[in-house]
Amino acid sequence: MAQSANALKHHLLLLVFLATPLMALTSAAFSRSSFPADFVFGAGSAAYQYEGAWNLDGKGPSIWDTFTHTQPWKIADGKTGDVALDFYHRYKDDVKLLKSLNMDAFRFSISWTRILPTGAKAELHRSNFPANFIFGTASSAYQYEGAWNEDGRGPSIWDNFTHMHPEKITNGDNGDVAIDSYHRYKEDVKIMKDMGLDAYRFSISWTRILPNGSLSGGINKEGVNYYNNLINELISNGLKPFVTLFHWDSPQALEDKYGGFLSENIVADFKDYAEVCFKEFGDRVKHWITFNEPLSYSAGGYVNGIVAPGRCSSYESGHCPVGDSGTEPYIVAHHQLLAHAATVAMYRLNYQAHQKGKIGITLYSNWFIPYSKSILDIAAAKRSLDFMYGWFMNPLVFGDYPFSMRAYVGNRLPKFTEEQSKLVQGSFDFIGLNYYTSNYAQNIPFSKNINISYNTDIHAQPIG
Ligand SMILES: *[C@@H]1O[C@H](CO)[C@@H](O)[C@H](O)[C@H]1NC(C)=O
Ligand SMILES: *[C@@H]1O[C@H](CO)[C@@H](O)[C@H](O)[C@H]1NC(C)=O
Ligand SMILES: *[C@@H]1O[C@H](CO)[C@@H](O)[C@H](O)[C@H]1NC(C)=O
Repeated sequence: MAQSANALKHHLLLLVFLATPLMALTSAAFSRSSFPADFVFGAGSAAYQYEGAWNLDGKGPSIWDTFTHTQPWKIADGKTGDVALDFYHRYKDDVKLLKSLNMDAFRFSISWTRILPTGAKAELHRSNFPANFIFGTASSAYQYEGAWNEDGRGPSIWDNFTHMHPEKITNGDNGDVAIDSYHRYKEDVKIMKDMGLDAYRFSISWTRILPNGSLSGGINKEGVNYYNNLINELISNGLKPFVTLFHWDSPQALEDKYGGFLSENIVADFKDYAEVCFKEFGDRVKHWITFNEPLSYSAGGYVNGIVAPGRCSSYESGHCPVGDSGTEPYIVAHHQLLAHAATVAMYRLNYQAHQKGKIGITLYSNWFIPYSKSILDIAAAKRSLDFMYGWFMNPLVFGDYPFSMRAYVGNRLPKFTEEQSKLVQGSFDFIGLNYYTSNYAQNIPFSKNINISYNTDIHAQPIG
């Protein structure tokens, strides 16, 4: 305290000393009122000279600690800042003193190594996470499995898309072999185990289970065997299976038969397929994800047409032979939601009580920030979120599409019957959310001359 007070008086003395010649010159009384009203009087300090507590409470060493400890002959009396003015413990006394001296401000420095003991950001360890936090990896069947036509698997729309339109894929690549996980899943599981992971999220290839998409086309026992083997391999290596039922690879047979997700017929076929999976795998699978990123399937496949099944209006980027970017994505999203809800209801009614699993859906959305402070851009940011996240989340929580979508899309947006609305509302035990990036959203004013599409319905431009 005494030391600390001395130090502060030293600062004050310095001020008085500087002021003395002025006083002598003018012989006017010198007081605070001689300074502008907003003149700030204060004291200053440096962490190393003041704080002490050099190695307490996790503080790391600075170069001054090393310097004073290893080259004491360079410091008067071999002193160190180990204790210094002990400001670390006595800051309240010092603040009180500053107040009694009528100071307006105190300039102090932060000790870098008291904040980051090693100087750099701390490394992240598993122990920084809650004990029950689940670390895992994820894959999708078409991107991983390969073996596209082996052991009775039927073609999906991705097989057709990559085979018929190699020009639409970088390097003309396809998933015929992919990562070959169909044959090499044991190696993959071993790698995951060696990495210390807790879980593996994979998707089931619909046409490996039902080659024709429908139950009437028969169940492919070899496909069922593959997933049984994979699930058993995971569990015996201490990894939890998280299973996605649909990761965009709908059966080509159903595409040919009734247009796949453009038809409400898909709801019954998807439900049948899901039920085979619950029956065959539900004793060991406790986390089910019905659809992965239904937005990506609707937008990629039916707005821009850059992914399977590659449908879009002529003015969209996919150069598609056929499609309607102003209606089809909404229909396809609607049928994904109905298929999801029917499946969740069936799981809850017939399987959940004894299998004791959880079922949900994985969505995808960016976050949006208004491009400017104008109310139009603020509304554009809200609307962009509605069209990406609310498109699915609003029906799941409230049983209907967001107001902005109903207003902006009008009668091109399908409507839920009262019964469907009730089925969709609350149809999840959990929500998965894939988040990649954020954008600014700028309002796009209405105009009569417009190419109608989900993209233009938003009336907002994502920027950045
Ligand atoms: C799908 O691909 C197969 C060949 O794998 C081809 O015979 C069939 O015509 C394709 N169907 C469509 C609708 O493109
Ligand atoms: C399944 O579809 C194939 C053509 O993709 C057809 O040859 C076969 O008859 C169908 N089987 C059933 C049982 O529907
Ligand atoms: C509609 O799309 C066509 C083809 O891409 C383009 O030339 C035209 O400018 C677009 N119209 C508007 C209003 O953006």
